[in-house]
Parts: sequence; structure tokens; C-alpha cells
Amino acid sequence: MDKIQINGGRRLSGDVYISGAKNAALPLIASSILVDGSMVFSNVPRLMDIHSIQLLLEDLGAVCEFDDHTMTVDGRGIHKIEAAYDLVRKMRASILVLGPLVARFGHAKVSMPGGCAIGARPVNMHLTGLEALGAEIHIEHGYIEARTKGGRLTGNEIYFDIPTVTGTENLMMAAVLAQGKTVLRNAAREPEIVCLADALNTMGAQISGAGTAIMTIEGVKKLTPAQVSVIPDRIETGTFMVAAAATGGDVMIRGCVPDHIGGVISKLKGTGTDVEVFEDRLRVKGGASIKSVDIKTLPYPGFPTDMQAQFMALMAIANGNCVIHESIFENRFIHANELLRMGADISISNGNYAMVRGVEKLQGAPVMASDLRASASLVIAGLVADGTTEISRVYHMDRGYEGIEEKFSGLGADISRIKP
Ligand code: EPZ
Repeated sequence: MDKIQINGGRRLSGDVYISGAKNAALPLIASSILVDGSMVFSNVPRLMDIHSIQLLLEDLGAVCEFDDHTMTVDGRGIHKIEAAYDLVRKMRASILVLGPLVARFGHAKVSMPGGCAIGARPVNMHLTGLEALGAEIHIEHGYIEARTKGGRLTGNEIYFDIPTVTGTENLMMAAVLAQGKTVLRNAAREPEIVCLADALNTMGAQISGAGTAIMTIEGVKKLTPAQVSVIPDRIETGTFMVAAAATGGDVMIRGCVPDHIGGVISKLKGTGTDVEVFEDRLRVKGGASIKSVDIKTLPYPGFPTDMQAQFMALMAIANGNCVIHESIFENRFIHANELLRMGADISISNGNYAMVRGVEKLQGAPVMASDLRASASLVIAGLVADGTTEISRVYHMDRGYEGIEEKFSGLGADISRIKP
């Protein structure tokens, strides 16, 4: 397995270009199942997770082509309604084919996605939502089987106990071909939800309220193929912002949507970091010292849970103490143990509060990535640490960051990938 090696102490400077958002591309590609024709997606990031969902759609019978950053998906040939365990286990977001398959075929069998390092990741809200639309759900031998009585789902009111991103996406895609109107209440409001809704409307759907807590979907008979562009990755944007702040650098982050990362901009400014906001780029200049600020992760537009690990690396070298409250996932502090190995001073209380006491310097050390965003946290820590940091299990990072070592070395970091 590859490792990433970083010799710390360099200030980042220069320009970095943001890739398309993994968490927007995945539901968009899944939406190809709904269309009797070829969808064209541009600005698709080249990532392991994108490869995984391409394999899954091809296994169902779709024809996919991925050239440079454009993916074409022709769903006409889809003849299977079963997403197999060995494909779903590689990527939980495969659950996103469930809604479209039931919407198109009235029947679907998808392996239960199971948990991951950061939590149990249940899908109960996806399933109760499908039941509200008239599907019968059976779970046996590790598979979810959803079947509609009359072959077509029926619109209904769905209330989410808590905002769920892929739950909102799954049920939006299920509802677009349903008979009648569906209202999603307490819907997730992430930019990726808006991107998917805009794409579906381009395909002929009738969705309103995306980006707010109440979404209305008027079912239509069919959707037509379209060309869709994937929005820039707000979490990659935030990751480079935090890295620039941590190294005291001066970085222009291009091809991003500052509006999508407002929670991180606000908190970074609170640390004394200078953030200049333009229409499609951000300039981040690290301050002479870093102030400690408390954060609590929340559904969008709150501070994103996907930025918590990266921000903890910054707070590890801040002047003062802060509390990080992870309110979304039950086990998303695994990176803290690795930061402790690098000399950080962090204590975790009752599972989702971390007290981070800033230290003068971190020391380079061999560390292990446990999940996608934890790996980004360790890269940031390695960039500022004294000496050499070697990160193992970087396949976690390859799932969600396109060419991250090239992008960081382009900003002056001493970072390289070591192949076994
Ligand atoms: C999406 O996951 C993202 N993944 C995650 O990004 C992100 O961390 C998460 O949203 C929160 O923003 C993709 O978009 C592919 P949720 P998702 O459903 O949809 C609970 C990354 O690093 N819940 O919004 O799976 C759940 O346990 C990944 O790119 C239920 O209880 O997250 C969590 O506590 C990591 N029942 C909360 O809701 C359900 O049926 C929010 O989860 C669904 C969710």
C-alpha cells in the first residue's frame, strides 16, 4: 500500500485549483439510472469512489465512458436491479442507486452499506422514506429489497428526523418519477443537494425548494438526457484553506465557490487568518499566530463535519485551548490519536467533545489514516511538524482527493508518495 511522506516546515504559497465535488458527482452519476439515454457529466473528479460507482453502474448494465474529467453514462442498457455486496462494501454511497432503481423498475435489491470508521451510518431514513412512497421493504441476508405494489411509487409527505444528505438525495431521485407530489421536510440543504436538484430539473423533473428544509417534487412520467457540470468540492477548498492557515502561507484557491464554505471562512477568520473572498476564488494568508476557536459540526450551512479533522490539526498548534464538538457522527475523532503521536495535546470526553490545547510544535512521526478526512488532517499536521511524517493507508485519501500530493507540492510542500 502507498504511503505519503512529508518533510514539514514549508510555508505554502501560490495557486491551487479545486476539483469537482465527490459528494456531488456520486448522486449525479446515480441519477443516470432514471434516464432513457446518455447523460454527460463534466468536471468529474478522478477518484477511487468515482471508479467504484462507475463499476456499479456498469454491473447493472449501463455503458460508461470516463475521459479526462468528463463521464458519459448511458443507462438504457440497465437490466439488473441488484447492487451486489462486493461492490457496495467498497463504497457506502452506493446506497444512492436504491432510489433511482425503485423509481425506474419498481424493484431494487441493494446490499446494506454497513458502517465505517466514523460511525454506524444507518440508512433507516432512506427506507422509511421509500415506504412512505409506497415501496415494500424487506431486509434479509444483508440485502435491502424494495418493491412497489403497482410498479410506480406514489408521492407523499416525508419528514426526516434529522437532515440526511444521501437520504434527501435518494428520496429526491425516487420521487421524481412517482405519481403525484412529494414533500421532503427537514431536508438536507447542502450545495450537493442543490446541484442534484438543478440537474434533475434540467432533465425534466419538477423540484422546488432545494437548499431549504422543505423540498417539493412533482412526479413526472419520464426524464430526458442532459449535460451537467459537477460543482467544485467545498471540502477540498476548506482543506487547502486550513493548510494555508496552518503553514502561515499565502495561497490563492481557484475554481471554488466561496459561498459553499462560509462556515469555514468565518471560523478561519476567527483564528486570525486573513481570508479574501472573490467570486470564484479565495486568498488565504496565515497570520503571525493562530488563535484557538471552538467549533461545533452541524448540517449545512453550519460548520461541516467533513472539515472537523482538518480544523483539529490547525487547533493543535494554536495559541490557547478550544473545544471541538462533533455533533453529526459518533466516532469521528480517530485522527486525534494519530495527532497525539505527533505531540498534540487533545483529550476526548464522552465521545464527541475534544479539548484541544495548542502546542508550540508538532513532531513528524509515522501515522495511519483511518478515513478520508482524517488522512487530510494528518497531511496538514505533517506540513507543519518538525521532521518527517509518513502516512500509511493513504487509499483512504485517494477516495476523495484528486492528486493531493501534486497539488500540495505545487504550493511548495515537501511531499511525495512512496510506492511499496
Ligand atoms: C454524507 O454522508 C456525505 N457523503 C459525508 O461525507 C458527510 O460527512 C455527511 O453527508 C454529513 O454531511 C456523501 O455525500 C457521499 P447523513 P451521509 O445521512 O449522507 C444519521 C466524506 O468524507 N443518519 O447526512 O451518509 C447519520 O448516522 C463523507 O466525504 C441516520 O441516523 O450522511 C449521521 O449521524 C463522510 N439514519 C447523520 O444522520 C439515516 O437513514 C447525518 O448523516 C441516515 C443518516
